[in-house]
Amino acid sequence: MRTPIYSMNMEEDKERPLRSSNWFGRSGKDGFIYRAWMKNQGTPDYEFNDKPVIGICNTWSELTPCNGHFRELAESVKKGILEAGGFPVEFPVMSLGETLMKPTAMLYRNQVSMDVEESIRANPLDGVVLLCGCDKTTPSLVMGACSVDIPAIVVSGGPMLTGKYRGKSIGTSDVWRYHDDVREGRLENSELRNIEAAMCRSDGHCAVMGTASSMACMVEALGLSLPENAAIPAADSRRKVLAQWSGLRIVDMVREDLKPSDILTIKAFENAIKVNAAIGGSTNFVIHLLAIAGRIGVPLELGDFDRLSANIPLIANLQPSGKHFMEDLFYAGGLPAVLKELKEILNNDSITVNGKPIGENYRNAQNYNDDVIGSVADPFSDATGLAILNGNLCENGAVIKPSAASGHLMKHTGKAVVFENIEDYKARIDTDELEVDESCVLVLKNVGPQGYPGMPEVGNMGLPKKLLEKGIRDMVRISDGRMSGTGFGTVVLHVSPEAAAGGNFSVIEDGDMITLDMADRSLTVAVTDGELDRRKKNRTATPPVMDRGYVNLYINHVQQAHLGADMDFLRGKSGSDVPRDSH
Ligand code: FES
Repeated sequence: MRTPIYSMNMEEDKERPLRSSNWFGRSGKDGFIYRAWMKNQGTPDYEFNDKPVIGICNTWSELTPCNGHFRELAESVKKGILEAGGFPVEFPVMSLGETLMKPTAMLYRNQVSMDVEESIRANPLDGVVLLCGCDKTTPSLVMGACSVDIPAIVVSGGPMLTGKYRGKSIGTSDVWRYHDDVREGRLENSELRNIEAAMCRSDGHCAVMGTASSMACMVEALGLSLPENAAIPAADSRRKVLAQWSGLRIVDMVREDLKPSDILTIKAFENAIKVNAAIGGSTNFVIHLLAIAGRIGVPLELGDFDRLSANIPLIANLQPSGKHFMEDLFYAGGLPAVLKELKEILNNDSITVNGKPIGENYRNAQNYNDDVIGSVADPFSDATGLAILNGNLCENGAVIKPSAASGHLMKHTGKAVVFENIEDYKARIDTDELEVDESCVLVLKNVGPQGYPGMPEVGNMGLPKKLLEKGIRDMVRISDGRMSGTGFGTVVLHVSPEAAAGGNFSVIEDGDMITLDMADRSLTVAVTDGELDRRKKNRTATPPVMDRGYVNLYINHVQQAHLGADMDFLRGKSGSDVPRDSH
């Protein structure tokens, strides 16, 4: 097996007291209480006293099938922690299952980040292992851990094995194709049951370069996980080995006091952006990375994504931009082999969780299959994985994934066909009365952070049935929502300000002429400023859908997409000090 690089070389600071000693090292009544209740699990105090206490933040849930194997994975982490002389304590946080949660898992990303942050700070933890898998579980855990900033390492759950259906490899991106096949009558609805079973055939998260895999690549590129974390399939025994190594390593990170803020420098963020462009990663990457940067205090703006991605071609031939699957990426050399292909453009001295610079981590990586991993000189596509658009239709920017879009639509002008909300879209998209042809631009409003609320993944809205029947497979689509990382098409997303915030996008009307110009990175509407202002004055705002509870808090505090859709009061970090100590 290729050996993840593991380091124990850094100097141990024997003078620095453990954070947990403020609980377990106390005398008198306080220490008695802290220790006595730990002992009810049959744990002698020498196991946790004076040893690094490591939390294992577990997003296991039977309602998050992608993370359904995390109890076993946590056992491997525990073995590593014990071997290294630490004391493991596993704790649950709210889990976000992408497929089951309504109205959208994204609505709860910030809530989970609060759960993670407060769980870490309130407890006697010296370090934390973050068990992440399904899409939002990664950014929410990393965001929460950044706001506390004690040593932290990510262990991803790994992708599913590639789906196999009638001799064909399939993955989540095929869901959209099969859905269109059923709408057009080319596939029986009943056959979908067989496809379902064939697609999700093992533990793990989506097997393509969707959001979960993009997040796993993001943490590896940022330096927050051990090398190879991104691609080892969940079902491969080496995933457990990596988990055990991560358990071993976090104990030393505590001794070295190697914290997220030491790793997450601007250079690390630049690396993550370049890697995401080269692998054709999810557009959701933008929103999550901005939120993480906001927590750790690194200045990062939407424009940085375009600047850093612009000249990076697609070198990972993976669905939805290409043809292979995450399992293939692992066999081809994993993310370290991709990083090596990018060595001329990465910040190779960025430090990672194993205490080594990222350049050293991939130095011995090999590309075993150049049909899966190409090179900058010989890419699979010149189209980059990500671009940022500006113009009077998106005053604060919008996002597109050129590598998954259609070349013939990269410069396109068409008449707007506007849907005011998702219900309007569903009611009219397949009607004969809808005046639309393939040159039109579909516009979907009120699916943004505040407006929906939670910014659902509906941006790659299906095309009108009558155009599908004509053989049309792509059109320019624009929304203030997101798209599944497994989705594809000429889809402009994350329009900011969103419709609910009352920018120009909110007053686009049927028939307005919209131009998408990729080369110019622009998204414009041929309506004068004066007319847009007149429409805005007459606009009636939609009242919030919830007047209490978390959702109301979210609506009132969520920031726009170009800022990462975090809540305004969550940006930054509060550190690991507990402000009051009542015991
Ligand atoms: Fe969990 Fe795709 S649904 S990763």
